[in-house]
Amino acid sequence: MLIVIKIMESLEKIINICLRRGIIFPTAEIYGSISGFYEFGEIGKRIKDKLIKIWKDFFVEENFVEIEGSIILPKDVLDASGHTKSFVDPITKCKKCQTIYRADNLIEEKLNIKVEGKSIEELNKIIKEKNIKCPKCGNELEDVREFNLMFKTSVGPLAKEEAYLRPETAQNIFISFKRIYKAYRKKLPFAIYQIGYSFRNEISPRQFLIRLRFFTQAEIEMFFNPENENCPIEKYLELEIPVLTREEQRKGSNEIKWFKIKDLIGNVIKSKWQAYFLAKEFIFFTQVLKLSKDRLRFRHVLEEETPFYSAGNFDLEYYFEGIGWKEIVGNAYRSDYDLSTHSKHSKEDLSIQEEKKFIPHVVEPSFGIERIILALFFENYREREWSYFSFPPYLSPYLVAVFPLVKKKEIIEKAEETYKKFKEIFGRDIIFDSSDSIGKLYARADEIGIPFAITIDYQTLKDNTFTIRYRDDKKQERVNFEESVKIIENSLKIDVDIKG
Ligand code: GAP
Repeated sequence: MLIVIKIMESLEKIINICLRRGIIFPTAEIYGSISGFYEFGEIGKRIKDKLIKIWKDFFVEENFVEIEGSIILPKDVLDASGHTKSFVDPITKCKKCQTIYRADNLIEEKLNIKVEGKSIEELNKIIKEKNIKCPKCGNELEDVREFNLMFKTSVGPLAKEEAYLRPETAQNIFISFKRIYKAYRKKLPFAIYQIGYSFRNEISPRQFLIRLRFFTQAEIEMFFNPENENCPIEKYLELEIPVLTREEQRKGSNEIKWFKIKDLIGNVIKSKWQAYFLAKEFIFFTQVLKLSKDRLRFRHVLEEETPFYSAGNFDLEYYFEGIGWKEIVGNAYRSDYDLSTHSKHSKEDLSIQEEKKFIPHVVEPSFGIERIILALFFENYREREWSYFSFPPYLSPYLVAVFPLVKKKEIIEKAEETYKKFKEIFGRDIIFDSSDSIGKLYARADEIGIPFAITIDYQTLKDNTFTIRYRDDKKQERVNFEESVKIIENSLKIDVDIKG
């Protein structure tokens, strides 16, 4: 019980800072808000932009092409992809109070068993047999039915053309494949990637950024020849990654086992490209974003839960204290499913002619940016006399804050002058504040995770030195401008060891 209270507090404390500092807050708050939708203020947007930049620097390679596609897609596309038929969740409604529940979640919560992937009939049977009633009013529930998670819309003044907000960014990539392949003169293997919004009309959005109705995906579709993958996997063969195997899950166990990449290929991982991305993800999350190894695992998704388009999925999950393991990246081996189905429905031949004519296979890592941001908040949340985020400097909303020690005219002027000098080097990553006492300024800077504070004092007037204060241990050193720039620049270096 005590643990539960502590856990609830972590998420609540993070949400409190987000609201108080305008980092992330509910959409349409003044109208009572709309569940599952959030706005990013300046600080949140800065963190998000930095995360995306670092993601691009790390994942995008020579043979990658970026697109930015339409968020509205015609019905034909989603009929072909299978989303109009299969992108559904089971729901049930209370006959009396009309509250709607996700049937599988309700059963899992009531009976503490896993039922993901079970058919509508099976879920109905369980509800009847176990006599599950409305948790709110205790009355009977209606029969379980399917609910499609896509937001429907119509296009044009006569509203004749049915369309949907895209439920994943991947579909734009498949329908653009042929043009990109030709126009950018690509040879396999190559990737098309997209970072953009996806929309899902989730039945019960919850846990802040975990289940949203509008969120950002960074998706890579790697196209390759399955008979000759031509994947530079050698460098990662010895890397060990934590896996929750299907066997452990079937036993009801949560035991994580560590495997070398080379021992997974051809065994549970069917494509070298899938192994390649799992390896890169593990390095990215542990060494670049600096998430703890023991809060990460690749869950080999059970057959019955594997999405309809995939021949094998590994979810990268993060352990959110008090919430549990949640997927932050979905890894699917989409094989030739999407290109084949779009070929068939559009009547455009999406096969390619290299040594022979064939439809390329696809491996897809799909990153949920907001869930990763929440993982960064959980990982870096600290408490001392005030709470703060210990983000790596390259992910902090601002790199340096410049403050005057006291509100004296000559000190403020010197602080402004110093701020301008830093700005020439670090641009918009510098912030100046003279609105409060120095203690309060430090607390406010720490709270949003600014790693360095420069304080201008009387001695600065004499010899141009100032103090640099480190957020994490609050230590201060007296330095000159060049020394401080070197310290700050060094903090931005990212060293990666591909052996893990
Ligand atoms: N194209 C494959 C695909 O969309 P997914 O597992 O449904 O796969 C990928 O989604 C990632 O998108 C997830 O790992 C998660 O991080 C994020 N995501 C999915 N649904 C979400 C939601 N309702 N709210 C926030 N993030 C979500």
